[in-house]
Amino acid sequence: MKRWPALLAILLVLCPLSPVLGQQDQPATDAYKQMLTEHYPFYTTATGQFAPVYPALARQIVDDFGITEGVCVDVGGGSGALSLALAQITQMRFYALDIDPWAVRACNYAAMEAGMMDRVSGVLGDAQDMLFRDEYADLVVSRGSIFFWPDQLAGVLECYRILKPGGVAYVGGGFSRILDPAIREPLARRQAQAVAQQRIEGFKLFDETLVQRARAAGIEDIRMEREPIAGWWLIIRKPAEE
Ligand SMILES: C[S@@+](CC[C@H](N)C(=O)[O-])C[C@H]1O[C@@H](n2cnc3c(N)ncnc32)[C@H](O)[C@@H]1O
Repeated sequence: MKRWPALLAILLVLCPLSPVLGQQDQPATDAYKQMLTEHYPFYTTATGQFAPVYPALARQIVDDFGITEGVCVDVGGGSGALSLALAQITQMRFYALDIDPWAVRACNYAAMEAGMMDRVSGVLGDAQDMLFRDEYADLVVSRGSIFFWPDQLAGVLECYRILKPGGVAYVGGGFSRILDPAIREPLARRQAQAVAQQRIEGFKLFDETLVQRARAAGIEDIRMEREPIAGWWLIIRKPAEE
């Protein structure tokens, strides 16, 4: 009974302050997010027009490969949209590695917003020389990044190096084959036009010669999945240990 006056006093002190605290907190968060989108414009794309792509691609990856536990490295993971979508439907731990520090900040911010900071982390690094030890990841995914790697073969070999035996890497770009065509086709058309008109700086497609070079470098199980609408992908498997 004696605690009531003290509790009342605390409430009386806090209640008038709470709207003020809220107001102060809100612009600070918005300003930080604004800064992220200015420095990393793809954050706006990933959370805007591309937003429906990630849940569909995540579902496709889980259905195709059946890997739902362990570690996943998302190479060139940007603001972490694919990692976050995969985290919703798996129990995996995600590291979204990106060469752009603003992408890493955006990923960590997006993970905080999604309440996923314990499972999705942005990390700074280069796809061509990753900071992960050999055989670290059960799954490697990479969407829309390989086209910017100066040495695509080096990046592919790195994806293979960090894979655990029995693991799979799905590396490439485009939109999921299970995404609603009404959403996918306009996106894919716009992307194809941008590529044809060379409007994307530093963008370089890959072809079968990359697969052949990867085989010559020791990756036996690698194939290219080329879908007219859904994109260019490499599927790389590391043999399970005997
Ligand atoms: C088109 S964005 C795709 C981002 C993300 N995967 C997605 O689908 O939302 C390409 C990303 O690849 C990153 N990138 C480019 N070259 C890289 C490299 N050598 N190593 C790691 N990341 C790289 C860029 O910084 C950028 O965030």
